[in-house]
Amino acid sequence: MINFMLNKLERQIQRAVVLQKEGNIACAMSEYELVFEALLFYEELGYRKQVDAIRRLVLVAQQTPVMTLYFLALILFHRRCFPAAAEVVDSALLLEPDLAMLHVLQARIQKSLGNLSGALEAYEHAQTLAPTSNGSRETFFMLTAEREMPGPDYYYWLQRFQQLLRPSSYVEIGLGHGRSLALAGSNTVTIGIDPYQGAWEKLNYVCPNGPATLFPLTSDDFFARHDLRTVIGQETFDLAFIDGLHLFEQALKDFINLERYAGKNSVILIHDCLPIAPIVAERERCTGFWTGDVWRIIPCLKAFRPDLEIVTIPAKPSGLGVVTNLDATSTVLADNYDEIVRYYLSLNCPADFNRLRVICNVVPANEESLFDRLGKTTHLRENK
Ligand SMILES: C[S@@+](CC[C@H](N)C(=O)[O-])C[C@H]1O[C@@H](n2cnc3c(N)ncnc32)[C@H](O)[C@@H]1O
Repeated sequence: MINFMLNKLERQIQRAVVLQKEGNIACAMSEYELVFEALLFYEELGYRKQVDAIRRLVLVAQQTPVMTLYFLALILFHRRCFPAAAEVVDSALLLEPDLAMLHVLQARIQKSLGNLSGALEAYEHAQTLAPTSNGSRETFFMLTAEREMPGPDYYYWLQRFQQLLRPSSYVEIGLGHGRSLALAGSNTVTIGIDPYQGAWEKLNYVCPNGPATLFPLTSDDFFARHDLRTVIGQETFDLAFIDGLHLFEQALKDFINLERYAGKNSVILIHDCLPIAPIVAERERCTGFWTGDVWRIIPCLKAFRPDLEIVTIPAKPSGLGVVTNLDATSTVLADNYDEIVRYYLSLNCPADFNRLRVICNVVPANEESLFDRLGKTTHLRENK
C-alpha cells in the first residue's frame, strides 16, 4: 500500500514538472507543495530512500540555477535542515534578489528557526515585490498563526488523542488528502466521510495499519442513510473529528448527528475554531487559508449546552475544539437548530484575537494539564 502511494506521488511530481515546463507555475508549485508535504509523512514512517529519490526528480528537472537552488532549499526545509536551507536561499537571492518566492521560502525557514521577526521581514519583502501573490499572503497568515499559537500543530494533537485514547472507533468528517485520517491506529475501526473521497488510492496519505472505510457522501447524506452503530459495529464511537464543510450550520449539524451516537467517554474534536483574522473566517472563501465560520460553534455550545466540557487547544494554524461529557439523549440543539443558526450567524468574528480566545475557551497548549482535565470525562487519564 505504501509503495503504491509512493509511486502515485512520483507520478504527481512528474505531472508538476510538466506543468512547470508549460509555464503553469502556480499549479505546479501547489502540486509540488502537496507532494512534498505528503513525502514528509512517509519519511517519518521510515521510507527515507524512496522519498529522497522522488525529491531528486524535482531537482534534476530544473532548468535554471536559481530554480535548482530554490528546490534544494525547499528539500532541505522539508528535511528540517533549516540553517542549510536558509543559506541556500541566500545564495539563490544573490542570483535573483527580486524573486518573491525566494523571500516567501526564507520567511517559512526563518519561522521554523524560531526567528519570527526575520520571517516577518522576509514576508514583507515578498509582499513589496509581489503584492497580489497568494503565496505571500498565505505565508503571512501562517506567520500570524505561529505568533498567536506557538507550539505543535493540530496534526500533533490529533495524533496524541489517538495515542492516549486508543479509540476502538474513529469517525472523520472531511478528509482532504487523508493526512488526519492516516493517524488512526491499527486497532481502531476507522471510517471517513467526504463526498469527494471514495477510494484510498486517491488520497495522498494512507494509514500504515490499513486503509479506512470510506463513504463518498456528504455528512448529511451519510447520517440520513446509515446508522453509525451498524457501520462501526459498536454502540458508541470513541473519537470523532469534524473537518468537513467549513460553515457554522454544517459543523453544528455534524455535531448533533455525531452526538446521537456518543457514549459517556466519547470525544468530539472540531477543527478551525480559532481563525487568526476575520478575513479567513468569511463564509465565502476568499483566501487560500480558510477556516470559514466554524468558530461560532464554540460560543453556541457554551450557551446552549452548559453540561458539555468544551475547550479549544491553540493548535496552529486554526485551533482544535475538544468537546466531552457528551449526551446522546440531549435534543436541545436539534430542537432549537433554526433559531440557533439565525442568532449565531449574526455574530461578527472579533478582530481582537485575545477576545476570540476568551469566547472560544482557549486553554494553554499544555498536554499534562489538558489531558488531566479531559481525563475527568474520558478515558484519557487511564491510558496515560
Ligand atoms: C480541510 S479538508 C479536511 C482536511 C483533513 N481533515 C486533514 O486535516 O488532513 C475538508 C474536506 O471536507 C470535505 N467536505 C466538504 N463538504 C463536506 C460535507 N458536506 N460532508 C463531508 N465532507 C465535506 C471536502 O471535500 C474536503 O476534503
